[in-house]
Amino acid sequence: MIFTVAVDGPAAAGKGTISKALADRFGLAHLDTGLLYRAVGAKGGDPVAAAQGLTPEDLARDDLRSLAAGEAASRVAAIPAVRAALTQFQRDFARREGGAVLDGRDIGTVICPEAEVKLYVTASAEVRAHRRWLEVGGDAAQVLAEVVARDERDMGRADAPLRPAADAVRVDTSALSIDEAVAQAATLVAARLG
Ligand code: CDP
Repeated sequence: MIFTVAVDGPAAAGKGTISKALADRFGLAHLDTGLLYRAVGAKGGDPVAAAQGLTPEDLARDDLRSLAAGEAASRVAAIPAVRAALTQFQRDFARREGGAVLDGRDIGTVICPEAEVKLYVTASAEVRAHRRWLEVGGDAAQVLAEVVARDERDMGRADAPLRPAADAVRVDTSALSIDEAVAQAATLVAARLG
């Protein structure tokens, strides 16, 4: 079975949580594509060389979820040659036998426009910043500013900007519990799986 669920959306909208839950429920493989960009940003040096030579160890670093790594990720993610170096791996993952869920910014628009299910998971900037603050702590106002700045950069870049695919279903998680958000997404996947 070839079956791709594309989950895109802005920072801390709940993409990862929903994607993991969908993968578990439907027995699909899961790829957090943000981790690829975080690993490239964290590696330092020439970002294109880092993307071309990314190793499993780079993805296993324990500092990739920090605010600084998110910021670095969004800077290197605006470089077309970095994105190009990571494209084929993501495409192959998306169309692997057995089905896959990928979460990121450009999965439904660029990596896998043929995805069987496309979700655009979003929430208000305040709600997303609060969730990120619960994860990373620190100064709440600074976390909000970082989330807003990163979204602007991701939406404003020329190559593969963050935007919903024309045929994506929007899931606004601002007022939803995790279970409610997962249930909405799972209903869409189940309907398409038939
Ligand atoms: O977890 P969070 O939503 O905050 O971020 P992430 O998904 O780990 O992505 C970190 C950064 O990587 C984003 O701000 C984007 O700039 C970049 N990214 C991207 O450009 N394309 C993707 N498919 C995934 C992430």
